[in-house]
Amino acid sequence: MTTATSASTINYWPDNACARAFWGQQELPPYRELLADTTAWMDVAAGQRWLDLGCGSGQLTRALWEKSGGQVEEIVALDCAAANGRALRRLAQSIQPPDLDEHLHFLHADFSHGLAQCPDDSFAGVVSGLAIHYAESYDPTRRCWTTAAYERLLDDVYRVLQPGGQFVFSVCVPDPTWLRVAFSAIHGFFLSRNPFKYLKNAYRMMRYGGWLKQQARLGRFHYLPADRVAQLLRAAGFVAIEHRLSFARQAYLVRCRKPA
Ligand SMILES: C[S@@+](CC[C@H](N)C(=O)[O-])C[C@H]1O[C@@H](n2cnc3c(N)ncnc32)[C@H](O)[C@@H]1O
Repeated sequence: MTTATSASTINYWPDNACARAFWGQQELPPYRELLADTTAWMDVAAGQRWLDLGCGSGQLTRALWEKSGGQVEEIVALDCAAANGRALRRLAQSIQPPDLDEHLHFLHADFSHGLAQCPDDSFAGVVSGLAIHYAESYDPTRRCWTTAAYERLLDDVYRVLQPGGQFVFSVCVPDPTWLRVAFSAIHGFFLSRNPFKYLKNAYRMMRYGGWLKQQARLGRFHYLPADRVAQLLRAAGFVAIEHRLSFARQAYLVRCRKPA
C-alpha cells in the first residue's frame, strides 16, 4: 500500500460526465463479450429478486430481465452516480417484454459504505460488471488506502444473499492493458452507425482508464490477482468459486455461491 496524496482523493464515479462516458462502453466488442459471458453465468429464474451493483446504464439489469423473460420479481440497480438513475428509467421504458408493473428500481448509493439499505437474505442473486473493485477506504492513522471497504462489501453481498444464492461479477485483472481493449474494439469503429461518437466515447473512457489504473497502483482501487479475489471470497464465506478471463483478457469473470 502507498501513502495517498490529497489529489488522489478525487472520485470521478459520482460525476455525470464520468457516468455518461461509460454509457458508450456497450458499443465496444470486448464489453459485448463480457456482457455475453456474464449473462451466460447468471442463473436467474422467475420470481427472484436480484441486485446489480454499480449498474451504470443498466446493461446487466437488462440482461437479467431478458434472460428471465420479464419474470423476475425485482431488480435493484445500485449506483453512486445520479445520472445512472436517469439512464435506468430510460432503459425501463424500452426493455422487452415491457416492465408494466415496475419491477426495476434504482438505488442511489455508495457501496464503499456497505449495503446497509438491503436486508439480510433478500436476494436470490447479485451481479456486478467491473464495479465492486472501486469500493474505497482510506485509513487516516496509517495514511494509506486499504481493502477494508472491498472486504466489507463482499461480506455484505454474502449477508444480503439468500442461502444458495449466486454472486456473478467481473473485476479487472492487475494492471490491465486498456490498449488491448482499444485494439480489440477497432472493428467496432467500422461497424458503428456513428463512428465519430464511437471514437469520442472510446477516448473519454481511455482518459478515465488512466486515472483508474493510477489509483489502483496506489492501492485505492483493487485490480487483484484471481487467487487473491478467491481468497477474499472464501474469507467472506462463499463456496463453489470459479473464474475465467473475458473483456479481451483484461477482466476476470467470477461466479460463486452462498452455501445452501
Ligand atoms: C465500469 S462502470 C460499469 C457499469 C456497469 N456495471 C456495466 O457493466 O456497464 C463502473 C460502475 O460502478 C459505479 N461505481 C463506482 N464506484 C461506486 C461506488 N462506490 N458505489 C456505487 N457505484 C459505484 C460507477 O458509477 C459505474 O457506473
